[in-house]
Amino acid sequence: MGLNYRGYDIVDLAKNSTFEDVAYLILFGKLPTSKQLEEFLDQIVKARYLPAQLKEILERIPVDVHPMDMMRTVSSFLGLIEPETKENDQYEVAIRLLGIFGPAMAYWYHFAHSGVRINEQTGNKDTIACNLVKLLHLSQTADPIIVRAVDVSLILYAEHDFNASTFAARVTVSTLADFYSGITSAIGTLRGPLHGGANEAVMQYLQNLHSIEEANAFLNESFKSKKLIMGFGHRVYKNGDPRSDIIKEYSKLLSEKQPKFGKKLLYQISEHIETRVVNEKKKFPNLDFYSASTYHQCGVPTELFTPIFVMSRITGWAAHIFEQRANNKLIRPTSNYIGPQKLSFVPLNQRL
Ligand code: COA
Repeated sequence: MGLNYRGYDIVDLAKNSTFEDVAYLILFGKLPTSKQLEEFLDQIVKARYLPAQLKEILERIPVDVHPMDMMRTVSSFLGLIEPETKENDQYEVAIRLLGIFGPAMAYWYHFAHSGVRINEQTGNKDTIACNLVKLLHLSQTADPIIVRAVDVSLILYAEHDFNASTFAARVTVSTLADFYSGITSAIGTLRGPLHGGANEAVMQYLQNLHSIEEANAFLNESFKSKKLIMGFGHRVYKNGDPRSDIIKEYSKLLSEKQPKFGKKLLYQISEHIETRVVNEKKKFPNLDFYSASTYHQCGVPTELFTPIFVMSRITGWAAHIFEQRANNKLIRPTSNYIGPQKLSFVPLNQRL
């Protein structure tokens, strides 16, 4: 089973496109011409601007919060100071969020950890991946291998039909709520470890494993106690996630080329875990498994893995919101109540 974005195979897109190319495709329904892509990047660069009120809020968010709570606040607060109106249409709001999520995340991260106030603007032709890498590393330059690895990960995370967070966004806007409310619901839903938080959970166990022997001990214990091994299994892809091999290549490349954060052993341990879980549990790695070692080798702090998912999935969420609104019907499932029925009312002073 493969994965397509608007008819294009994810394998082709990951090989030939940039994230901006794919984001345009998802938002506007077709691949851009080179002029359209250039204009789109210009819009994204402008949308990086962090308003003073938002910076003030980011500076008040403590260092020990879950960064997804910070991302949810960015979406919610921006909806307050730059509300969706008839004048700024939903496409503008989507591009604003696409541009601002990375800089807002990096601003909060550096201020919370070291009191540094970053300048969100890097080069005015920098892609989202390049801007992110420069901001995270507080550097004027960015290693092209790392930028491409992050860029491809953004492509792979961009859209995935009716997953939980997308569904949450659609339910929210189906009530005719504003765009920001849809995205805020989606971020809250993506936060959980069974959805977006899985790549962080993978890194949390990988970072404690320093040899193949330790990996074996971890697996033996997990198998024995029937513990979920994060980064494996998928509700839709029972025989393998088509995105996993693509991101695995980048994890491998980073471990071989050894840019600043490359780690041979991390990749070898990951591959060993994959082999054993596939052979012994018949569960295949999902996108999150090799994303963990890829991001780690790109020098991305583990706590920012899921917020980076937001930077990418904003495109899929936005396209679903557009689609929901184009032919809206309130999404309101019913439930089957199975508790007691026909009880006689008990006055307060007679209740036990
Ligand atoms: N590790 C160990 N066992 C797993 C497993 C994993 N990662 N994923 C599924 N299983 C087991 C279940 O416990 C269950 O066992 P049981 O029948 O003994 O109760 C069985 O396999 C069910 O498999 P399946 O129907 O394929 O899973 P699902 O559709 O219910 O769940 C996930 C899908 C994604 C929720 C689940 O695989 C999971 O929680 N994975 C880890 C979290 C993760 O990586 N999430 C990111 C998803 S992109």
